[in-house]
Amino acid sequence: MPTSAFHADVHAPAGDNAQFGPVLGDAEFEFIRHVIAENAGIILGPNKRQLVQGRLARRLRELGLPSYESYCAHVRDSGPEELVGLINALTTNVTSFFRENHHFEALSSYMIPEALKRNQTSRRLRIWSAGCSTGEEPYCIAMVLSECLPSGIRWDAKILATDIDSEVINTAQQGIYPSDRLSAVTEARLRRCFRKGVGAHSGQAMIQPDVARLITFRTLNLQHNWPMQGPFDVIFCRNVMIYFDQPTREKLVTRFAGLLAPGGYLCLGHSESIHAGTAPFRLVGKTIYRKHGDGNGA
Ligand SMILES: C[S@@+](CC[C@H](N)C(=O)[O-])C[C@H]1O[C@@H](n2cnc3c(N)ncnc32)[C@H](O)[C@@H]1O
Repeated sequence: MPTSAFHADVHAPAGDNAQFGPVLGDAEFEFIRHVIAENAGIILGPNKRQLVQGRLARRLRELGLPSYESYCAHVRDSGPEELVGLINALTTNVTSFFRENHHFEALSSYMIPEALKRNQTSRRLRIWSAGCSTGEEPYCIAMVLSECLPSGIRWDAKILATDIDSEVINTAQQGIYPSDRLSAVTEARLRRCFRKGVGAHSGQAMIQPDVARLITFRTLNLQHNWPMQGPFDVIFCRNVMIYFDQPTREKLVTRFAGLLAPGGYLCLGHSESIHAGTAPFRLVGKTIYRKHGDGNGA
């Protein structure tokens, strides 16, 4: 490779870095922090400047914009339109199949069995994966749910999977994953719930339609109004609230409580918790909260 490929232009224009592109200045960083906190509830600490610059660099290139000043002007002028691009670029979407597996064990051993008992008249069961990212979490819920539903009896069982980021929802809806991301899925589930890709899809696996059909994917900002009525039997909101401030977390937990059936469960991420007394919940397992009551007036 010619050494000129590594040549840094010492005469680069102010505000630019010839090797890494435009530099995010103080005012623009503050503006972006404010916009993302206002619209997504996501709090970006002052130490996140490099991360923001790195994640928005692609967006600037896509839009053909030369600087962060021009990008911030574009966000201001285009209103809600560019908000989607900004939010998609700044969300952290790390996830994996059977991440924090104890939640899926609890789902199968008592959360779904209790809901099946509680709802035997309505035969309706609802689970929400709030902040589902690229779909691994709701597909794991669907695999477990399909194993727990009684055969021969029709149940109206559905999973709602939502995320603020429209790009991850698109990926999730496709249900196609590189095979090396499936190492935590058991052999039996791989055989029953996935199709192996061939030809152009070799090295990938696609979720089976009879598992995928249990899930409805939607874009939804947790800070906005929710169109769902509930009640949900289980809500997963894992590794989402860590990005919010404390008042936003407390408000969200109260809203989840309002949509959960009495005796329903809320699963949070490994570093998240509910302050005792904030909402009608009791801690019953590792980051597992049960809403008071049993659905029979208790
Ligand atoms: C780290 S991922 C967690 C994925 C999955 N729940 C898990 O634990 O593996 C956090 C997800 O929360 C989403 N998110 C962040 N702020 C949100 C908001 N205000 N409303 C809805 N989703 C949000 C992000 O887009 C991201 O996909």
